[in-house]
Amino acid sequence: MISQNTIQQILSRIDIIEIVGSFIKLKKRGTNYLGLCPFHNEKSPSFTVSPSKEIYKCFGCGRSGNSISFLMEHEKYSYVEALRWLANKYNVEIEEKELSPEQKLQQQSADSLYIINNFAQKFFSDYLFNTEEGRDIGLSYLKHRGFREEIIQKFQLGFNPEARDGFATAAIAAQYNLELLQKSGLVVVRDDKPMDNYRGRIIFPIHNQSGKVLGFGARVLKTTDKAPKYINTPENDIYVKSKLLYGSYFARLAIDRADECLLVEGYTDVVSLHQAGIENVVASGGTSLTPDQLRLIKKYTNNLTIIYDGDGAGIKAALRGLDLALEESLNVRLVLIPDKEDPDSYVNKVGAAAFNEFIANNKKDFILFQLETSLKEVGTDTTKKSALVNRVAETISKINKAEDFTKQDDYIKQCAQLLKIDESGLHTLVNKFIREKITKEENRQNRDEIFSNNDQQSGTYTPEDDDAAALLNKDEQHERAIVRSLIEFGTRDWDEEKKVADYFFEHIPIDELDEFIENKNLIPAIRTYHTWYKEGLEPNAKSFLYHEDMELSSLVVGLMDYNYEISPNWKEVFDGKIFTRDELYKEEVFSTLNYLKLKKTKRMIETNQQDLEKPHTAEEQLILLQTHQYLKNIEIELTKQLGTVIFK
Ligand code: UTP
Ligand code: MN
Repeated sequence: MISQNTIQQILSRIDIIEIVGSFIKLKKRGTNYLGLCPFHNEKSPSFTVSPSKEIYKCFGCGRSGNSISFLMEHEKYSYVEALRWLANKYNVEIEEKELSPEQKLQQQSADSLYIINNFAQKFFSDYLFNTEEGRDIGLSYLKHRGFREEIIQKFQLGFNPEARDGFATAAIAAQYNLELLQKSGLVVVRDDKPMDNYRGRIIFPIHNQSGKVLGFGARVLKTTDKAPKYINTPENDIYVKSKLLYGSYFARLAIDRADECLLVEGYTDVVSLHQAGIENVVASGGTSLTPDQLRLIKKYTNNLTIIYDGDGAGIKAALRGLDLALEESLNVRLVLIPDKEDPDSYVNKVGAAAFNEFIANNKKDFILFQLETSLKEVGTDTTKKSALVNRVAETISKINKAEDFTKQDDYIKQCAQLLKIDESGLHTLVNKFIREKITKEENRQNRDEIFSNNDQQSGTYTPEDDDAAALLNKDEQHERAIVRSLIEFGTRDWDEEKKVADYFFEHIPIDELDEFIENKNLIPAIRTYHTWYKEGLEPNAKSFLYHEDMELSSLVVGLMDYNYEISPNWKEVFDGKIFTRDELYKEEVFSTLNYLKLKKTKRMIETNQQDLEKPHTAEEQLILLQTHQYLKNIEIELTKQLGTVIFK
């Protein structure tokens, strides 16, 4: 862990122009700098960098962020790697931070799991090659399936003995802790005694990007058993299924070289294809791809080819969630292996050359494939067909247009033909979905408003901001406004004794946030502010700009420059006077806080009212009525303080 002190030192030296400028050519334009966007293809520059705001934004494809996110996206660095790169650039010596006891435990647990897995992998491989049982049962099975020794060794396959606790005994003798052994999934406890979880199974170690073993897939030898075909490592500190792809460690370089990633279903498919010399291949384990897995692929290539067996259930799973791939601008193609074969059996049957040729000749575009299959299902049913048209339009709308202008049009043309509908009608429909999506996104985060209008150099960017703003309801505007005031003005004086933040947390106690703030996305920002503030730091928007949690960072960046949510209260109260927010910060904090309190009071009145409607004893009724009066008084008081604003 890099210490906070080091991070601060690095952040204080960051010069976004210098950093971005070391990767792309920038020209000064007014207060900003302009260049060709490195994240999409463009001929005229729309990539804008603001030195004062320390952010960049592309008005062509919409990417935006800070120096660190730039390094993360452009150089595929992790957050920590980006910091190290910067430390090196600015000659900042890295001071490692003491971990908290909790973090230490987690780190230790992760470390121990890696160590246990490493031990287990060696044990299983050794057992496979160097024992009679391993050779007679495990190795002969693998050889029978056509796997040669060098590939078995490369993938570090192994064998777990049949005996009840062959591995467990060895692991415990080697001083491994039983609790961790259970966490690793290698050992279970039955009748108070440790027992191997993968008894009599072939072991496929699953590696991370740098070759460390995260976990295992364990295959039975005889599929006739009632037992599941594979047992996989349970989720733990290091094995997170949604973030890994089997084979990615062995495939990285080949994917980069081929600029294409092949995706298959199973462990054995990956190993067989490797053996045939096709190395740019990973497996998803038969489930649909997750955003994390797509991102992993996108680090290396934009071209994803899914190779599944034709009639398996897997293909349906694989296709689910692929709309996301379109948003990430991945080109997704599909190849179905014929005749009830899977990639493993098919490559064994026809050989590498024929396999490659088959893939090359049978790649189908994923959108068109989906459409063709659905058309078959729909038949002549017109209701179903119109639903399909909608679905197709929505899918096409997800194609990242900035990245590839012609692609969307091509799809519209081809799909209109297949659907036998009017091309311009489909165009309109697609545009409708695009508009909806834009509005939704702006509504959600308003990252697009990072650059205020007068700062903006490119004239081409005209989102329908007002529409989006109108969609934000009043409560949400208020809630956003109050978080913004806290971040912006929290460290200013409230009175002689306290700061704005003190006043804020007096009225909205940190443990009661949930009762005041309905938009749960905002809560982490307030909590983080609170933690920093209590640590004696002086948080501001910049503190969030470089927060490790990119979502939090972009949320706050969005809040800061959101022009439309000046709290309606103080706007109405002070209308006509030319005060700036800066001068009126106390009024802003006061009135937005009051608004939240009023909302809460109204909710309490409502609950009380509902309670009143139920049967009660006279005594209870009296208490409820008194409560009602009490709350009403608060409501009146708050409303008075707020001025003339009328609330529903
Ligand atoms: P398959 O049934 O296609 O297995 O499941 P396979 O890898 O091709 O194995 P062979 O060739 O029959 O020996 C595909 C993938 O789905 C996951 C595994 O990741 C497997 O590789 N799977 C399947 C499980 O996790 N559990 C199961 O019980 C079955
Ligand atoms: Mn198979």
